[in-house]
Amino acid sequence: MEIQRYNTTAVIIHWIMAILIIMMIGLGLYMTGLEKGSAERSWFFGLHKSLGLTLALLAIIRLVWKMRSISPALPDFVAPIQRKTAIATHHLLYLMMFIQPVSGYISSSFSGYKTKFWGIPLPHWGSKQPELNKLFTEIHEISAFCLTALLVLHICGVIYHMHRKETQLLRRMWFK
Ligand code: HEM
Ligand code: HEM
Repeated sequence: MEIQRYNTTAVIIHWIMAILIIMMIGLGLYMTGLEKGSAERSWFFGLHKSLGLTLALLAIIRLVWKMRSISPALPDFVAPIQRKTAIATHHLLYLMMFIQPVSGYISSSFSGYKTKFWGIPLPHWGSKQPELNKLFTEIHEISAFCLTALLVLHICGVIYHMHRKETQLLRRMWFK
């Protein structure tokens, strides 16, 4: 049976973002454990912010693609509950692709440091406001936790379907 696939643009953007987001979760956890005020910590924070903002731009491109194209329908034999869970997970993953970088950017804007994008200073509209910085840092942490939980659910769904040959789910999001 011919399987319906996501197109090459969708596949490329899915895997670039998947790799970068997983790296960013590790990077975020690693860098917050580094010694405060050290050059190493500041270098990793800079890298995290630039990569995170790049991911926000990729998320916009991806959302535009998503709105302009029709996702390939899942095969008929996928149970309604699995279908609903998969779609809900995908929608929530999209939401997190925005909440995560936006909360990080806002928290950084109230930190008192200038946010740079690959070395280019961005307009510094926020002042040093520890309470707002703390609030948005907490939102960033909670959303990282939710994103990770959704990712685990997403991967479990893929693994579950991998042992069922007829679904060939991974091939739907892979290169021809
Ligand atoms: C943070 C990382 C990830 C995010 C944010 C993510 C997000 C998504 C989203 C939103 C979709 C729906 C297609 C779309 O509308 O773009 C999707 C589909 C898919 N993802 Fe991921 N994904 C991630 C990581 C992974 C990983 C690690 C795997 C492999 C184990 C994977 C395998 C798949 C597959 C096979 C599909 C196609 C599902 C279908 O047949 O409809 N994803 N992903
Ligand atoms: C998809 C993109 C992103 C992901 C997956 C991500 C993930 C994370 C994670 C897992 C942490 C560690 C949380 C903890 O303290 O336990 C973190 C911390 C942090 N992130 Fe992000 N982040 C992203 C984007 C951004 C962006 C765009 C910025 C700013 C421009 C940013 C700024 C920060 C800062 C300043 C911290 C340290 C917070 C603290 O002091 O505890 N992040 N991030």
